[in-house]
Amino acid sequence: MQAWTDYLSQNKQRFLDELLELLRIPSVSADSKYKADVARCAEAVKASLLAAGADSAEICPTPGHPIVYGEKMIDPSLPTVLVYGHYDVQPPDPLELWHSGPFEPVIKDEKIYARGACDDKGQMFMHVKALEVMVKTNTLPCNIKFMIEGEEEVGSSNLGKFLEDNKTKLKADIVLVSDTSMISMEHPSLETGLRGLAYMEVEVVGPNRDLHSGVYGGAVANPINILCKMIASLHDENNHITIPGFYDKVDDMSDADRKALNNAPFDINEYKKDLGVKEVCGEKGYTTMERTGIRPTLDVNGIWGGYTGEGAKTVLPSKANAKISMRLVPHQSSDEISAMFQKHFESIAPDYVTVKVTAHHGGEPVVTPTDSVAYKAAAAAIKTAFGKDPIPTRGGGSIPIIALFEKTLGLKTVLLGFGLDNDNIHSPNEKYDVFNYFKGIETIPYFHKNLAEMSKN
Ligand code: BES
Ligand code: MN
Ligand code: MN
Repeated sequence: MQAWTDYLSQNKQRFLDELLELLRIPSVSADSKYKADVARCAEAVKASLLAAGADSAEICPTPGHPIVYGEKMIDPSLPTVLVYGHYDVQPPDPLELWHSGPFEPVIKDEKIYARGACDDKGQMFMHVKALEVMVKTNTLPCNIKFMIEGEEEVGSSNLGKFLEDNKTKLKADIVLVSDTSMISMEHPSLETGLRGLAYMEVEVVGPNRDLHSGVYGGAVANPINILCKMIASLHDENNHITIPGFYDKVDDMSDADRKALNNAPFDINEYKKDLGVKEVCGEKGYTTMERTGIRPTLDVNGIWGGYTGEGAKTVLPSKANAKISMRLVPHQSSDEISAMFQKHFESIAPDYVTVKVTAHHGGEPVVTPTDSVAYKAAAAAIKTAFGKDPIPTRGGGSIPIIALFEKTLGLKTVLLGFGLDNDNIHSPNEKYDVFNYFKGIETIPYFHKNLAEMSKN
């Protein structure tokens, strides 16, 4: 639409400046020292919604970080879209690996560098700016509600209750989320599923105190050695996970669906080059696309114990710890897998150590329909903005709240993400391409327009 293109091109610099302003707020949800900044960020999101033309916007406190809710209702007979996103970000560590400050955004080679540039401030803010484009050109085609949370990166533990408590307020026809990625701008894609998550922490305790590794070494079990052995035993030689029952409920995709998934343009050599690895590694019998899209995994996210300071200290440590996550696929259940892990991990512990297993937050896997009006509206929006039909793919990451939208509100979701796999989300030097930011703002209004038009029939 000409009016949208004109408005966007007249306001490009401001749209970019406003995003940079938001990226300057260190809204790290995991670290309580940023609590005031997280709150300040919620205020900024609220203000941006009002400035973009929302009728109302409010800060909804939770026992954790606040949720920002806003809406623009034009006609109850038109469809209502609930936009979900998150304004919180991951911790920026390790700081020394950033080329510029994580909260001092810079634009270099047409890329915005900052923590949250892609995940999810950049992507969430596209919806705020798209609202502005539609409102200011008097072309808003449907009702829009915004629910932007501040706890996604720490498991959305208070959002489930917010959904329960606000069913009427959140009444909508579809949830729209931009917090995932595309294959590339040349090969636009739409994610049709996300993996679930079970996240565990383990502690292995040996002797009741740290010991001299010469005086006692060889005679007392070293908890770090034991933990490494236990972790190593969680995969077999084919990289299958050895926890009994782990694969019982895994939804094996049909050959046709697997074929379609593998048809997506994917260059394994580019992939390896980008990551600086000679070979990829994963479960035998599956391609890289399948390993990240439709297969469950188990990974150590952190491991510690003993002496890690400067120089060499000879010590046989008393304990060792690790954080272990499992990505889940339909129809695995986060609670069931957590329980299986716990039982198995305790059962493989030798008598000379004791183990403690605790579960952190988790989430259920989701699959989104591809035959719905909303999916078709998104696909057509991409076709208009990119000139190409989107390729359906499966996302490897997790957004735990998506499963609850369906369970609590009865709502399906469209994952209209514009990130790229190499955006370094959760890593140093996170970036979001300026092109993707504006392409998103251009695409989103078409989604609303298509949805309104297609819903009439
Ligand atoms: N936006 C990501 C999830 C994502 C990234 C999905 C890329 C698909 C493609 C989200 O913010 C995230 O990081 N989720 C966490 C889970 C959460 C419970 C901390 C994840 O996937 O590790
Ligand atoms: Mn995210
Ligand atoms: Mn994230």
